[in-house]
Amino acid sequence: MTELLLRAAGARVFERADALFLVHPRGGVHRLDGDSAALARAVLSLLETERTRAELFAALAELVGGPVEPASVVDDLLALLRQTGAVQVSSRDAVARPRAVRGLRVVLGVTGAVQSIHTPWLVSLLLNEGHDVRVAMTENALRFCREEGLEALTHHAVVTSLWAKDAGGPAPHIRLAEWADLMVVAPASATTIARIAGGSCDDIVSAVAIATRAPVVVAPSMNVAMADAPSVRRAVNALREDGFIVVHPTVGHEVALSPAERTAMRGTMPTPPEFVAILRAIIATAPARRGSITAPSDGSWDARYACAPSTRPWESDAPDDGLVSAFERWKSAAGAPLRVLDAGCGSGLVATALAAIGCDVCAIDLSPNALDLGRARPGAERVTWVQGDALTATFSGRFDYVCDRALLHVLPAPQQRAWAQRAAALLLPKGALVLTAHSEQAPAELGTSRLNARAVAELFDGLLELESIEPVAMKGPEGTTVSARRYVLRKG
Ligand SMILES: Cc1cc2nc3c(=O)[nH]c(=O)nc-3n(C[C@H](O)[C@H](O)[C@H](O)COP(=O)(O)O)c2cc1C
Repeated sequence: MTELLLRAAGARVFERADALFLVHPRGGVHRLDGDSAALARAVLSLLETERTRAELFAALAELVGGPVEPASVVDDLLALLRQTGAVQVSSRDAVARPRAVRGLRVVLGVTGAVQSIHTPWLVSLLLNEGHDVRVAMTENALRFCREEGLEALTHHAVVTSLWAKDAGGPAPHIRLAEWADLMVVAPASATTIARIAGGSCDDIVSAVAIATRAPVVVAPSMNVAMADAPSVRRAVNALREDGFIVVHPTVGHEVALSPAERTAMRGTMPTPPEFVAILRAIIATAPARRGSITAPSDGSWDARYACAPSTRPWESDAPDDGLVSAFERWKSAAGAPLRVLDAGCGSGLVATALAAIGCDVCAIDLSPNALDLGRARPGAERVTWVQGDALTATFSGRFDYVCDRALLHVLPAPQQRAWAQRAAALLLPKGALVLTAHSEQAPAELGTSRLNARAVAELFDGLLELESIEPVAMKGPEGTTVSARRYVLRKG
């Protein structure tokens, strides 16, 4: 593997006169003087472009008009630069290069809490995460932070009123509510929290938060005395009970006191970097839209596939027991390759496993990130990958088998019957749907529909015949399992 050296984006370096100082991320400063400082300056400058060690030595030799000797001087310096986080190492052969995360459409609601002075910082970080950001502000928020700076950052008008400047189109709060994949109210003042909890839509931030069906993250931020007041506690609890995601406040500085008197106290929202880290974790758990258990048909589904596999409860290293062997039996009984649709294929584990036993597999998923993972699997070239919605996509011809592992149980109830009809329509006569869905014993917090045999029989009534049911330990990350059942539903 070829190591590549690069000046780290967050390198902490400063210079004073001839000396160069490397600030260690965990504290402490390393000082270089004279020739050492000059060499460090040159190396850091050359490593603004990614280079191998050999390429770096060649570039240094060109710079000084001959080989740098002894080479150990440069190697020692590189070790120090790596140790202090000024230089980072990656690999040219690494298959998994960091992939661009496709972000979400985020509406940021800003209120008149003092932490809104950090809004430009928060907006910058959200944009860096790859999100598309629109900002809505209460009148009091405008006292702490002006909209012009935020407009310069986002390249979009900041919405500060329920009343649109132009008469055409939906009102601003409805437009933003429908546009959002995710809404974030940060900082959330006690007043805005009370408005949302009470259903009061008399300003733009509360109106969007109440109107949107996207998940809403609320970050209360206020003086501890306000935070602990029963009325505020009741309102925060009401938000949580209504399906809003509430981020706990941390310890910060209370501005009501004069600077000299200030002490750190609980109540303020986390700093923007901490908040963005929390948001990343929230997105990784793909919150359902408020008021329904649904598979988001939007970017938040895709964003889950940009996160570590361990954050996806349905992702495993091996197919569920008995699935591939069942297809092997059906294949040898048919005496011909089976045409299989893997509906909601995710990162393609089942699709590639079925292709490996000779099935002719078409794999469809909403998420481009998931399909990228599927295409990177060994044997992926034998699968036809389709990005789209299995409920509506058009396929050339019908299938001997449709494999649904964990698709039906993430659909909202009205769509489950639509999917049953669609799956039946996609099957050839005598073909079958192989459905794996969570059972009543699956943990409720997964947010899936926990189905029993009767519910499945009702869903497919008049469409497919229930041929067999068996309990399955549905495999998840790191050896975890979730209680499920595998149903084979055959077409007459
Ligand atoms: C200097 C100053 C700082 C304030 N900081 C906060 C705060 O951190 N949290 C809070 O809930 N209210 C805070 N307030 C009070 C709010 O601005 C006030 O309750 C306002 O009604 C909030 O309205 P809004 O939610 O519509 O923005 C502060 C007020 C002032 C004058």
